[in-house]
Amino acid sequence: MRLPQRVKLVEVGPRDGLQNEPQPVPVDTKIGLIDRLSAAGLPVVEAGSFVSPRWVPQMADTAAVLAGIRRRPGTAYPVLVPNMQGLEAALQAGAEEVSVFGAASESFSQKNINCSIAESLERFAPVVAAARERGVRVRGYVSCVLGCPYEGPIAPAAVAEVAARLARLGCAEISLGDTIGTGTPAKAQAMVDAVAERVPREMLAAHFHDTYGQALANLLAVLERGVGVIDASVAGLGGCPYAKGASGNVATEDVLYMLDGLGITTGVELGRLVEAGQYICQALGRSTGSKVARAKVG
Ligand code: HMG
Ligand code: MG
Repeated sequence: MRLPQRVKLVEVGPRDGLQNEPQPVPVDTKIGLIDRLSAAGLPVVEAGSFVSPRWVPQMADTAAVLAGIRRRPGTAYPVLVPNMQGLEAALQAGAEEVSVFGAASESFSQKNINCSIAESLERFAPVVAAARERGVRVRGYVSCVLGCPYEGPIAPAAVAEVAARLARLGCAEISLGDTIGTGTPAKAQAMVDAVAERVPREMLAAHFHDTYGQALANLLAVLERGVGVIDASVAGLGGCPYAKGASGNVATEDVLYMLDGLGITTGVELGRLVEAGQYICQALGRSTGSKVARAKVG
């Protein structure tokens, strides 16, 4: 088994996790979480999104979050932007990295961003171009890469097409989202192999959900296929508000424990990461979704 020596962990909890919370989460709590995550050594902490507050009210305070965090040198704090309006607000708020987010499923694209896949790519083109002109790195997300809540299985070729179009627009990294967590290891490998025919493997990130308990197995399978970037959510927070059953982002603690055990370097300290998870679980009044955190602190 050939695995990378180093993996970049992208912490998505403050965005992908908290966007789903039914109760408002105070700005200070979000800032406290992000600062704890960066202090744990995470190289990327997704800080929020500049989307319509009517669609996702929980992310309406992202500008205040960006203004309040202690920016740690070497840590990136990307935010999601669906259109030019979002990009302008993000730049105004001092974002230095942004992400556009599309889907490999037409129905999911409509539910999530209210347009077709083709329209979304047209919409993203000026966003990516304007960001890059300002030296702002852009990541492209593809949702539903291993299944869609509305359409069922998704063909790897459809994923590869959207990934290739995002890469051609100028996205520096393509995050492949198993939004509803239905993938299994061989399917995850086949999907990555199909995408890698169109986009260099070094540009690919795995964004897997653990809804069916497959996330770690799927991650190991795609690590073997040369993926070196993994998205995860502290305490397993969240999912996606437009994907029923998508609760269950893979927990960052569980991914880190596996990577540590494999001798793969991440630069992240498990103890401090577990503390960050405890902090947000206490603030939200809930138990952790991380098995590792449960084993370590009960
Ligand atoms: P729309 O209604 O078609 O947009 O929504 P519109 O352009 O017609 O504008 C309608 C209203 O929204 C206007 O306000 C705009 O100003 C406002 P009004 O005049 O009615 O008061 N608006 C905005 N406000 C703030 N920021 C903006 C913005 N854009 C428009 N950027 C839109 C289209 C894309 C805006 C909407 O569908 C939207 O915001 N969707 C976001 C959905 C979302 O955030 N989903 C979660 C993230 S994706 C995810 O979690 C999956 C992922 O984790 C990977 C995986 O797991 O698969 C990434
Ligand atoms: Mg997600």
